[in-house]
Amino acid sequence: MSKLSHVICPQHLVAKVEMVEKYGVDNFRKRIEPTKVLMCPPTFFTVKTVQNPFMEGKVGTVDTELAQKQWQALKEVYESLGCEVKTIEPVEDLEDMVFAANQVLPGTYENGRTYVVLGEMRNEKRNQEVPWYRKWFQENDYHIIDIFDSKDNKKHSPCFEGQGDAIWHPGRELLWLANGPRTDKESAMLLNMTLSVTVIQLNLVDPRFYHLDTCFCAIDENTVMIYEGAFDSDGLALIKHFFKNVISVSEKEALNFALNAVAINGNVILQKGSPELVATLKKNGFNPIEVDTSEFMKSGGSVFCMKMMVY
Ligand code: ARG
Repeated sequence: MSKLSHVICPQHLVAKVEMVEKYGVDNFRKRIEPTKVLMCPPTFFTVKTVQNPFMEGKVGTVDTELAQKQWQALKEVYESLGCEVKTIEPVEDLEDMVFAANQVLPGTYENGRTYVVLGEMRNEKRNQEVPWYRKWFQENDYHIIDIFDSKDNKKHSPCFEGQGDAIWHPGRELLWLANGPRTDKESAMLLNMTLSVTVIQLNLVDPRFYHLDTCFCAIDENTVMIYEGAFDSDGLALIKHFFKNVISVSEKEALNFALNAVAINGNVILQKGSPELVATLKKNGFNPIEVDTSEFMKSGGSVFCMKMMVY
């Protein structure tokens, strides 16, 4: 069955890979969910160059005062849900540093020790953000894993854009990883071997959905929201195999960043203006919280991109 080729298991599972059909999420070790949020104030945020389809025609159009207000309001939503929000100092001229989801991937070892995998970003300018995030995680006592580094400027290592393309299955040691415009295919094997976790690889097939977090949002162990058109049939089969409840959204709402959302204990924080999804979430017993991230959408990002979940 072709979809098996997209599941990369740690060695102790290799013998059983042909049994993936029988595997449910229960077969994966429980994972402690991070509860804190790391955000970067948008002090220097603007749109200077076009790096993704949403940025077309948006250079110089950001209302910086409004962006500050929207960022602050989002921070307050996390606080109202009881999440501690930590901040990283913004760096002048790194205008996209506010998108804190892309530079790294945090996790925990079996003994509870925290680690962070540093990313290698596709865009050279954005890649300059990574050392600043490295510093933050170092200061916060994480074990630093630097497997994607290409210090000598020769692109010998694959690109990997952190939580933008790598999303943990809620509560489980199972990693959903997308390769597409930003993250390279080879990163799956590197993550699998280094972290000893099962990696499920998804191909992103629509350039508008350039990060996994634009078309896939896991709400809880059984529930995921997706835009089906962003995936190929193998990817869809895998998603539907591991999640019992798959909520599909329309192209229109997906393009309104409805899936660039954050789920915390049954609350789903999402960009306003997606009434169909809001109604579906309520019907499924979730509590949608709508916010406005219009200024950040001009750069191709919304709620999910504007934070990193940390321990
Ligand atoms: N302008 C940024 C970029 O193109 C936006 C990143 C948004 N982040 C995300 N995870 N989708 O890299």
